[in-house]
Amino acid sequence: MADQSGGGIDTVMHEERLFPPPPEFAAQARIKSMEEYESLWRKAAADLPKFWGDMARDELHWFEPFDETLRWNEPVAEWFVGGKTNACYNCVDKHVVEGHGDRTAIIWEGEPGDERTLTYAELLSEVRKCANALKSLGIRAGDVVSLYMPMTPELAIAMLACARVGAIHSVIFAGFSAEAIAERNNDAGAKLVITADGGWRRGKVLPLKETVDKALAKSSTVEHCIVLKRAGDVVAMQEDRDHWWHDVVDGASDQCPAEPLDSETPLFILYTSGSTGKPKGIKHTTAGYSLYAKKTFQWVFDHRDDDVYWCTADCGWITGHSYVVYGPLAAGAKVLMYEGAPNHPAEDRFWDIVERHKVTVFYTAPTAIRAFIKWGDEWVEKHDLSSLRLLGTVGEGINPEAWMWYHKVIGNERCPIVDTWWQTETGGIMMSPLPGAIATKPGSCTKPLPGIVPAIVDSDGHEVPTDQGGWLTVTHPWPGMLRGIWGDMDRYQEVYWSQVPGKYLAGDNARCDVDGYYWIMGRIDDVLNVSGHRLSTIEIESALVSHPAVAEAAAVGRPHDLKGEAVAVFVTLKQAEPGDELRTELRQHVRNEIGALAQPDDIRFTGSLPKTRSGKIMRRLLKDIAAGREAVGDTTTLEDYSVLARLRSDDE
Ligand code: WT7
Repeated sequence: MADQSGGGIDTVMHEERLFPPPPEFAAQARIKSMEEYESLWRKAAADLPKFWGDMARDELHWFEPFDETLRWNEPVAEWFVGGKTNACYNCVDKHVVEGHGDRTAIIWEGEPGDERTLTYAELLSEVRKCANALKSLGIRAGDVVSLYMPMTPELAIAMLACARVGAIHSVIFAGFSAEAIAERNNDAGAKLVITADGGWRRGKVLPLKETVDKALAKSSTVEHCIVLKRAGDVVAMQEDRDHWWHDVVDGASDQCPAEPLDSETPLFILYTSGSTGKPKGIKHTTAGYSLYAKKTFQWVFDHRDDDVYWCTADCGWITGHSYVVYGPLAAGAKVLMYEGAPNHPAEDRFWDIVERHKVTVFYTAPTAIRAFIKWGDEWVEKHDLSSLRLLGTVGEGINPEAWMWYHKVIGNERCPIVDTWWQTETGGIMMSPLPGAIATKPGSCTKPLPGIVPAIVDSDGHEVPTDQGGWLTVTHPWPGMLRGIWGDMDRYQEVYWSQVPGKYLAGDNARCDVDGYYWIMGRIDDVLNVSGHRLSTIEIESALVSHPAVAEAAAVGRPHDLKGEAVAVFVTLKQAEPGDELRTELRQHVRNEIGALAQPDDIRFTGSLPKTRSGKIMRRLLKDIAAGREAVGDTTTLEDYSVLARLRSDDE
C-alpha cells in the first residue's frame, strides 16, 4: 500500500556538479546535442502512436505488418495489433539474412577462465537446434519453460529458442532456493525446466540440478528437465523425465524456421518480489518489448558496430533480459557474458576482463560499484581500462560520491555515465542521459527517453511543483510496458493503475529540478517522516556516503514518541574504526551536508547490509531491526541470511 500522506517530500540534497558530454564523444554520438534530444522528445510526445508505429516498421522484421499501433483499454495495452513477428528472428536471423552472420554475437568467459565466442551465424545454428529439442519434448507455442541456469551462452540460447517457437520463458536466478523454483513453476504452470549440473561461483560449484530435483518433487506441471553439462559433477538423472542437453540439443537438426507470432504473444514471465506477499510474475510480450529493448539499447548505450559491450547483470534479472539478450542482440552488438563472481580469483576480475577483451561499454549496479570502492583503487590501477568509452549504472540510486568515484577511477574522467532508471515492469530504460546529448549530474537519472512522458504527482493525482518530491508516474502507455501479472490481472490493476487514475504508478518517489532533471528518491514505502517532514532515504544515505570513512549506508525510520519517526542509519565502513567518536563525526557531517532535520538519531556500524540477490538494500528488514522487532516481512529474497542475525547481535 503506498503511503497516503499526500506524496509531498522535502528535498534536502544540493548537488551542483554538472558534466557535459565530452565534445569528442558527442561528435560521434547517435544523438549529438540537447537540441537534438529535445526535438526528438517533443516530436514523439506530439504523436506517440505515430512515433512508435514508424519506429516499429523500421526496426523490426514483420512476417505480416500490423494495422493498428496501439489499442488501449486501461490497463490493458495491445501494441502493433494484427502484426506477426518473432523476437528470436529479430535478434538472430535478421543479422544473418542481412549478411552479417560472421559478426561476433557473444563473447563468453566462464569463471574458471574458459572462453567461447559465437558469431551470429553460429548462434542461429545453436538456437535452431535447441528449438528443435524443445519441440521434440512436446513444447509448443504458449507453453511455459523455466530456466535455472548459470550465465553460459546456453542460457541465452535457451531464451531465444523459446522465443523462436512461441514458448514463454521464465528465468529463475540460479541462486534461488528449491522452494522459490517450485513456487514459480507452479504459478506459471511450467512444463519444462532447463538447468545445468552446476555453475561456478567463487571457485565452487553451485549444485543446480540437485536444487531443481528438490523443486521438481513439488512441481506437478513439469514433465521434462533438460540438463546442461557445465561443471562435470555427477548428478542424478531420472529416466524419462531428465535429458542431457548434449543428447537432445547437439544432435538435433539445425533447420527450424522462426514461428510468425502475433505481436502480443507472451514472450516471457519474470518474477519480481513485491515487498510483501507472493512474487509477481511480470508478463512481457513479443513485439512491443522487442522494439523497446532494441531502441533504448541503441539510444542509451549509443551503440556502434565496433563496441564490445558488457552488462554484468545475470539473465535472472530484467537487466539481463533486456540488456544482455534482447536489446543488444536485436541491435547486432558484440555482447560479453561472464559466468562468475567479480572477486574471483581476485578483486580485479572485472578489470582484467575489461582489459583483455577491450570492453568499450560497461553497465553495472551501484552495489557492485560500492564493493569496488571498498576493495580499493589498487585493484583497478593494475589494469589498462583505456578501451572504455561509456559507463552505466542501474538497480538503485547511485550516491553522488560513488558516481564521482566511478567517473574518476573507472572512467578516468573521460567516459560519460548513464544512470538508467527503469523497472522489471517497464521492460526497458525509461529515464537516462543520452550520453552524447545530455549533461549529467551525479545522482540524477536526468531526463525521460523520447516517447516517455513522466509526471510527479501527489496522492490526489495533481502534479507537484518543481523540486518537490512526489509519486513518479508515467502518463501514457509505451511499447515495453508490462502487460499484466501472470494469472492475476486484478493485482496488476490494483498495484499499478488504481491509486492515480489514468497513470502508471511506478512505486518510487522522485523530484524534478529547475533544469527538468529527475532525481529518484527511493521507494514510496521507504519514506521517513520526521517531525512532519518527509525525507527520502537516498538523500540521507548519500550524505553519509560522502564521508570518507563510509562505504555504504541505509537509512530507515523508527518509531519515536515526539518526532513520529527518528532517523536510524546502518553504516558499513571502508577501513575506519567504528565507535562513538566516528558516530559524533558522522552526525555532524550529515548536519553540515543536508541539515539538522536529517541528522541520524541512531547510527549502527555493521559489516554488511541485508540485500536482495540482485543487490538492493532491504530497508524493510532494517526498519524492523531499528524498531527492535523481529523481521516480520518476507525474507525469502534475502541474499545472505546471516547478515540479519549479525545485525541483531551487533547491538553494542
Ligand atoms: C526499482 C526497480 C531496472 C532493472 C533493475 C532493477 C530502483 C532502478 C534505478 C536508478 C534509482 C533505481 C527503483 C525501481 N531503481 N534503477 N537508476 N536510480 N533507483 O529492476 O528489480 O524491477 O527494480 O529499482 O526503485 O523502481 P527492479
